[in-house]
Amino acid sequence: MRSFETVLVTGGAGFIGSNFIRYLIGRKEFSGRVVNVDSLTYAGNPLNLADVEKRHGGRRYSFVRADIRDYERIREVFSEHAIDCVVHFAAESHVDRSIFGPRDFIETNINGTFNLLEAAREWWRDKKGVLFHHVSTDEVYGSLGETGRFFEDTRYDPRSPYSASKASSDHLVRSYFHTYGLPCTVSNCSNNYGPYQFPEKLVPLMILNMLEGKPLPVYGDGKNIRDWLYVEDHCSAVWRILQRGEVGKTYNVGGENEWKNIALVELICERVALARGEGKDRYKKLITFVKDRPGHDRRYAIDCGRIKAELGWRQEVGFEKGMDETVRWYLDNGAWIESVRSGGYRKWIEKNYGDR
Ligand code: NAD
Ligand code: DAU
Repeated sequence: MRSFETVLVTGGAGFIGSNFIRYLIGRKEFSGRVVNVDSLTYAGNPLNLADVEKRHGGRRYSFVRADIRDYERIREVFSEHAIDCVVHFAAESHVDRSIFGPRDFIETNINGTFNLLEAAREWWRDKKGVLFHHVSTDEVYGSLGETGRFFEDTRYDPRSPYSASKASSDHLVRSYFHTYGLPCTVSNCSNNYGPYQFPEKLVPLMILNMLEGKPLPVYGDGKNIRDWLYVEDHCSAVWRILQRGEVGKTYNVGGENEWKNIALVELICERVALARGEGKDRYKKLITFVKDRPGHDRRYAIDCGRIKAELGWRQEVGFEKGMDETVRWYLDNGAWIESVRSGGYRKWIEKNYGDR
């Protein structure tokens, strides 16, 4: 089993990255340090790790505001901290934004990944026991019909600028393994839900709109299907791969939990109503069908047999429990919501770091 002294987590102020840092620092098998490199785009919120900063800041946890598009800055991070593991989450991650403005997706997701690979190649030249783990998405495999699943060897067929940029970064990572022998692993995961997700994605957007009595926009006919996984289960999968994953290998990660969007939104309506002691159908009347997303992938379904069989990973959090905890978290964290809704966290970033 591998162990690491200093893990560089990119994008650690975002949704999955912040959950992962909290998860990693809480592992009894991990006694090392975490360096969180994040440029704090609209999706990066230092509040997501306020508890970790308070408890471990300056000792086991350091935050570095840096942009992965800036190669010199990334080299500095590698030279200042004796990094022996990279967990690369940083990305532009929202499909809708990639349709309206793809440039940042190309620059961050492709060029940024390239910069990290180059820095790792340079600093790890003769180093043993190092690992570069790249976090990717099931969207690289394209869109399924009513049957079938994505396997690790399914042909890539990305259909949005977001998924094309992630596909490109996956290929770059694998090329560094084959060409330079850089020890790399890749994971392709399905849709995550849970605490600290920025409310432009389906689950938190729906919860927050319900609380404000706003329409619940469902794209197209609402019959597109996604496979949902609780974010902590994604974190445990990444941790397994860091410890035991075979270098050069890709692992699919998923919930084995497919939902039509409309059914999921109806379920969230019911769980929010239940949590607030209201009638089951209170929020369903807010559901509004809107114009479809261009190129909207119809169905995703992940086969995660490999990570289960080879690394002994399992989803631990059942969907009802995970969804109830998520709903509860958004109901109980008014200050976080208020800071995101009002842009208050941007003002904090500006005051403490200067805005970019
Ligand atoms: P997110 O948008 O919540 O967070 C992304 C983070 O990256 C933010 O903190 C942002 O500030 C940072 N970032 C963006 N551009 C940067 C740059 N140029 N330099 C440094 N930092 C930068 O995203 P997320 O949902 O947490 O996703 C994290 C990763 O997981 C992404 O690579 C995404 O493709 C992948 N993924 C996400 C899901 C999902 O359901 N959310 C599923 C599978 C894979
Ligand atoms: O599959 C993994 C991917 O999941 C990740 O790689 C992405 O980073 C992550 O954002 C997510 O992508 P999706 O496009 O699937 O997530 P989103 O929450 O934007 O949308 C989920 C589904 O809900 C999708 O079919 C579009 C639909 N949708 C979304 C929004 C925001 C709506 O119907 N209405 C909405 O308002």
